[in-house]
Amino acid sequence: MVEFGYLLILLAQKILAVLLIPYFWWISKKPKKIIPKIDNPILFYSATKLSEKIRNRELTSEQIIKAYIDRVKVVDIILKAVVQNRFDIALAEAKNVDGYLKSCDLTENELKVKYPLLGVPITVKESCSLQGMSYSVGSKLRRGVVAKSDGIAVKKLREAGAIPILVSNTPELCLFWESNNLIHERTCNPYDTNRTSAGSSGGEGSLLGSGASIIGVGSDVAGSIRLPAMFNGVFGHKPTSRIIPIDGHYPSSINDTLKDFLVIGPMTRYAEDLALMTKIMCDEKLTLNWNEIDTSKLNVYYEYQLEKALFTPKTHKDIERAIQKSVQSLKTYSNATIKHHKFDLSNTNEMCLSIIFDMENIPNVLMESMKPKKSRHLYLEILKSLLFCSDYSLQGLFFYALQHTNVFISKRKCDFYKNKALMLKNDFLEKLGNNGVFLFPTYPTSAVLHNKLFVETSNVVYMLLFNVLGFPSTHVPIGRDSNNLPIGIQVVAAPYRDNLCFSVAKELEKQFGGWSEP
Ligand SMILES: *[C@@H]1O[C@H](CO)[C@@H](O)[C@H](O)[C@H]1NC(C)=O
Ligand SMILES: *[C@@H]1O[C@H](CO)[C@@H](O)[C@H](O)[C@H]1NC(C)=O
Ligand SMILES: *[C@@H]1O[C@H](CO)[C@@H](O)[C@H](O)[C@H]1NC(C)=O
Repeated sequence: MVEFGYLLILLAQKILAVLLIPYFWWISKKPKKIIPKIDNPILFYSATKLSEKIRNRELTSEQIIKAYIDRVKVVDIILKAVVQNRFDIALAEAKNVDGYLKSCDLTENELKVKYPLLGVPITVKESCSLQGMSYSVGSKLRRGVVAKSDGIAVKKLREAGAIPILVSNTPELCLFWESNNLIHERTCNPYDTNRTSAGSSGGEGSLLGSGASIIGVGSDVAGSIRLPAMFNGVFGHKPTSRIIPIDGHYPSSINDTLKDFLVIGPMTRYAEDLALMTKIMCDEKLTLNWNEIDTSKLNVYYEYQLEKALFTPKTHKDIERAIQKSVQSLKTYSNATIKHHKFDLSNTNEMCLSIIFDMENIPNVLMESMKPKKSRHLYLEILKSLLFCSDYSLQGLFFYALQHTNVFISKRKCDFYKNKALMLKNDFLEKLGNNGVFLFPTYPTSAVLHNKLFVETSNVVYMLLFNVLGFPSTHVPIGRDSNNLPIGIQVVAAPYRDNLCFSVAKELEKQFGGWSEP
């Protein structure tokens, strides 16, 4: 049974969705813009390959950085994913790398250990903090704020030799699933510009999907890495909570509990780069096992959707088929064991609300304290926003209203759902163990039209569940749907078994081709 108060919200959303059918029909008929095809073969190498080619002097860092800058320039006119670039500085840094390699007497292997990403371009979600670059994170009240230093994860990547070329777009303070805010143009999906690139790491998703980035840094508190990865057909990994430091991320919270849910993680076009990036960004105090995994010892669990209840979002048949195909392929090609077990996925919405939104001092758009005298009344701001005269985006305010919905759940019920989540977590821990993965939809459909996520927020529970439980989860692209839009699935493992997600991602990439050009 769905919680009654929550049911009312879902009902209101369904009514809104019906009222908006003509609008969405109309925008779906609008002509789309097509991004040009990739014409430079350099753009088809993984970051792992690129760094190898730089180390063995087959390619220069300058050639590669220039290839990416040219690609960004061509696609961003259409996609609007870049908040600010640092093309000139990046080129100068690339020349420095090439100069260093001319006189350096380290062997290729020593270079690989010391600078695994030497000379390779990366893109950075604006909220992750790149020194000297825009750090407004889509908030009108933060316009002009510049990052004073690199976030720790970004710093680690730069110390490994990576060269950041830009910071990319997000919704206001990352608090929504579409990258649309009041200070930057709306980011589009490269596979269909009338659809959203999702969010909050939507700028990263759009650039990666279009081949204008090879590896990117994203962050995820409720699907913000995995949804853009899904909608733009690339890989995105939400790591185990707290294995990658999130220091420098904006927004953050004085409440340390947020770190159980908010993570920074890699977004890539090729599966092999997931482990490479994660290893670099990981807290050096941790000793995780990065050895190759023998997939024949793998146990594969799967489920097509959340437990059926009134208004539970139904997984599209193409995505169901992607799960079936993946299960079958792991069985056939990796000798994995297929397991059948019914995890209790009822009331996942309520579990998520009770746990995440119950936290005190969780970020919201109205907390923006740069101008404390500004109005802070949520519903008044929503009204103003609908009249285009609020300083806050409708997306951010809407998200805040959702955060409020947990008032519909009584304290007693809240404790009940927290306990239910704990039981589910223990069941997952026991079944997945060291060698198990769980295949599950990332989202029930492929990329939706701009603004459609306003009426589909309950679908994000597919991803949010694993923030709440703290499990690692990789989005893996698995081909296209009947509209030729990218689809894919989540591969979830037990905490600290991130490497298992990566092994399965690589296997599935081998079978189904992974990312493909729009
Ligand atoms: C659909 O895409 C075209 C071209 O990208 C754009 O001009 C138009 O505004 C889009 N329609 C909507 C409703 O976003
Ligand atoms: C799977 O098992 C078969 C038969 O036991 C064996 O021939 C094959 O090499 C195995 N494949 C893998 C990838 O382990
Ligand atoms: C953090 O949130 C929890 C509820 O999840 C609350 O008990 C705790 O007091 C909060 N801590 C701070 C510093 O706000």
